Amino acid sequence: MTEPLTTTPVGTSGTAPVGIVGTGYVGLVTGLALAELGHPVICLDVDRAKVTALRAGQAPFHEPGVDDLLARHGGRITFTTEPGDVFGPCPVVFVTVDTPPGPSGDADLSRVEAVVAAIPAGTEVVMAMKSTVPAGTGRRITRHLRATGRHGVRYVSNPEFLREGSAVHDVLHPERVVLGADDPAAADAVAALWAPLGAPVVQCDVASAEMVKLAANAFLATKISFVNEIANVCDAVGADVATVARGMGLDSRIGAAFLNPGIGYGGSCFPKDVAALKQLAGNSGYHFQLLSAVIEVNELQKRRIVVHLANRLGNLQGATIALLGLAFKPGTDDLREASSLVLAARLAAEGATLVVHDPVVGDHVLQALPAGTVKVARAADALAGADAAIVVTEWPEYLELVRPGLAASMARPLLVDGRNLIDPEAAATAGFEWVGVGRPDCLPDALAEPGLDLDDVEADAPAPVAGR
Ligand code: UGA
Repeated sequence: MTEPLTTTPVGTSGTAPVGIVGTGYVGLVTGLALAELGHPVICLDVDRAKVTALRAGQAPFHEPGVDDLLARHGGRITFTTEPGDVFGPCPVVFVTVDTPPGPSGDADLSRVEAVVAAIPAGTEVVMAMKSTVPAGTGRRITRHLRATGRHGVRYVSNPEFLREGSAVHDVLHPERVVLGADDPAAADAVAALWAPLGAPVVQCDVASAEMVKLAANAFLATKISFVNEIANVCDAVGADVATVARGMGLDSRIGAAFLNPGIGYGGSCFPKDVAALKQLAGNSGYHFQLLSAVIEVNELQKRRIVVHLANRLGNLQGATIALLGLAFKPGTDDLREASSLVLAARLAAEGATLVVHDPVVGDHVLQALPAGTVKVARAADALAGADAAIVVTEWPEYLELVRPGLAASMARPLLVDGRNLIDPEAAATAGFEWVGVGRPDCLPDALAEPGLDLDDVEADAPAPVAGR
């Protein structure tokens, strides 16, 4: 058996170190934020390769600001695979392991259970749960700890609300800190760590804190599915969802955030947490009907774009389609539940050939994409010869594609903007036939003129005409 990678002793400065178990997005960014606030931090992970890389200053994922914090706080944050480096030396330990969906739709808590099992008898610690867990988990863990004689472990639910792509900013500028605990002193110990950030604190019982997290994610996902359905109705009646969303969002009771329609939400959180809340309700005897619709709308939205394409190109058999963006959102290389993967599989099933681009996702993605998919390093190269291009992830660099000449490099200058990223008129001016989500199509002037052939369209066509 390989020896664990242990830390050198930390805490000699007199300040007790804070422990982190699990160095994924939440764990690593939480640890770096605490280091930024001046605390010595010890991060525990079971993945030796990850720990070795982190010790060398290499983050296991792309996230703005993380490399910089790792470089600046290398002396204050240490990494280990040995539980004894964390349980014992650290009065507060954050649990930040992942809780992926299990086969039944319930959250798989095996990694959380493994952490609980690793806490030695006699340990005095405040265990602050940041992993997203079903309501009731804290109560069950506390009961289990008591039953196994580990009376020194005090449980606090401290859910995390960071978003990938802006994780460092979100952790250092929280809109609220939620602390659920039966023991007020334990909650105070965690509150003290976050106090310098000045966020409002919601102090409550454990189950309510757990529910805040699930309800917040489910509500945001509901907002997205709602605006996606509004976009689909806009398509049907010839309205513009951008105007509708703006008109809705200015009502402070509604708010403008999360009203961007697109090709569905993805990532490691919304799909999992919506399913987990639905399942949790079902397990408790309550049928959460609304969430069933939220999930179904999201699935249909990923596929809807294939219908848009087929309507315009006819048979997709043999068509070359460029996918612009693969990550589930900009600012990350995360592919978990990314709409791009579903879209690629559907297009390949229709007989299309795929050329893909993403500014940060590595070539390993090809293993998850249909056979024969080509990945190119420059977005402009994906357009060359394509029958259509689809903006799948709203990376800001795709705005630069809207310039004269690129449309002419395509077999057909059809730009399907799955995230409503690009200004339709600018796209049409640059010679693209722009098709968005819930917005009127925008064609180059010449395309809108009857009797003109597509081949006659100049790349730098004059002012656009909006129309369907
Ligand atoms: C989400 C929540 O926003 C965080 O508050 C939460 O902490 C996190 O889940 C979690 O539970 O860990 P994240 O998944 O990183 O964060 O990303 P979001 O920015 O919320 O985007 C999620 C998905 O929704 C993306 O696929 C995005 O493209 C999509 N989305 C978002 C839309 O389609 N429309 C919108 O208006 C907003």
